[in-house]
Amino acid sequence: MKTREELITLAYDARKQAYAPYSGFRVGAALLTKNGAVYLGCNIENASYGAANCAERTAFFKAVSEGEREFAAIAIVGGAEDGPSGRMCAPCGICRQVMREFCDPKTFLIFLEDGNGGISEYTLEELLPRGFGPENLT
Ligand code: THU
Repeated sequence: MKTREELITLAYDARKQAYAPYSGFRVGAALLTKNGAVYLGCNIENASYGAANCAERTAFFKAVSEGEREFAAIAIVGGAEDGPSGRMCAPCGICRQVMREFCDPKTFLIFLEDGNGGISEYTLEELLPRGFGPENLT
């Protein structure tokens, strides 16, 4: 099973593929399944700005489309291409909601650089408290 440091390194690898000609803000994500597989994602922007896809959702949609449904953790790195590295890039609200669809809020972990050379770790519940999920519809 990958460590959180390894996942952050993989997120940096994924960030190299970021397509961000409009914002110049490049993001990478490494999504770990409960079986130890890793799916990478980057942000993909569009001339029609609203069609952009975040790195986290790219990783989730790749994984789900390959049949994965059980997730353990995600590492996310991002920042302006000419900005300081290692600054925290927290997932946007839409990505948190996508995580909520497939992940246990109490156990799914989100690894973010803290801006001081360390890694901060949050549960999904910490980043999306009292969220709306599939069980609310039953
Ligand atoms: N972005 C992500 O990919 N993930 C985040 O968590 C925050 C924002 C992207 C979307 C857009 O391409 C760029 O960063 C600026 O918002």
